[in-house]
Amino acid sequence: MAKTLSKPTSILFMLFTIFFFSTYVTADEAPVFSKNLPPSSLGLNQQKLSHLHFYFHDIVSGPKPTAVRVAQAATTNKSATGFGAVAVIDDPLTLLPENTSKVVGQAQGIYTLASQSEAALLMVLNLAFTEGEYNGSTLSVLGRNTVFSTVREMPIVGGSGVFRFARGYAQAKTYTFDNKSGDAVVEYNVYVLHY
Ligand SMILES: *[C@@H]1O[C@H](CO)[C@@H](O)[C@H](O)[C@H]1NC(C)=O
Ligand SMILES: *[C@@H]1O[C@H](CO)[C@@H](O)[C@H](O)[C@H]1NC(C)=O
Ligand SMILES: *[C@@H]1O[C@H](CO)[C@@H](O)[C@H](O)[C@H]1NC(C)=O
Ligand SMILES: *[C@@H]1O[C@H](CO)[C@@H](O)[C@H](O)[C@H]1NC(C)=O
Repeated sequence: MAKTLSKPTSILFMLFTIFFFSTYVTADEAPVFSKNLPPSSLGLNQQKLSHLHFYFHDIVSGPKPTAVRVAQAATTNKSATGFGAVAVIDDPLTLLPENTSKVVGQAQGIYTLASQSEAALLMVLNLAFTEGEYNGSTLSVLGRNTVFSTVREMPIVGGSGVFRFARGYAQAKTYTFDNKSGDAVVEYNVYVLHY
């Protein structure tokens, strides 16, 4: 009698074990939307300050422009400040001011003439670096650029790669501006905190 009972009992026990175990495992692997982590789990230890220095080449003329106008308002041509014009850029960043100098990255994004009273750009772009340890890392710029001011300051709002968690600022100073072609070379000093 005990023996005839033991078979279904052990089968039941086995089924229960499988059920319990699969439930437990499923619960353990349930998707987790959010949890707290110690910053050290991402290697976020000592914050660093980096200073980057380069020249930004904004070429609007000639057969190979690096900045192209993609949109404007019907009233843009009548605006003294070009209000409403939008350009997409893929501007080389070089170590020295000459356009033959070593390329360390590209400034890729958009600038918009966003003021009706002065030449002021809304800059929305990524500095995509290609040099050495910075190759593949980016910094994101979102700021105001009054192009005829001596020094313009724009916030660095984030970054990727070695610049994860970045914040800081960029200072832009016109190095050369050709008022016939519109081409410009701009010196950039970027100060950025990151890990
Ligand atoms: C504005 O002027 C440019 C040339 O100066 C011309 O190519 C363009 O068609 C004009 N755009 C409008 C909207 O009038
Ligand atoms: C550099 O600038 C010169 C003169 O403006 C131009 O002729 C030449 O094509 C440019 N070179 C590059 C690599 O852009
Ligand atoms: C940067 O990284 C890309 C992709 O990994 C690689 O093709 C390229 O050669 C690297 N450039 C430099 C200057 O190291
Ligand atoms: C362009 O620059 C030259 C020399 O720097 C200056 O004499 C001229 O007035 C400028 N033209 C305009 C339209 O700003």
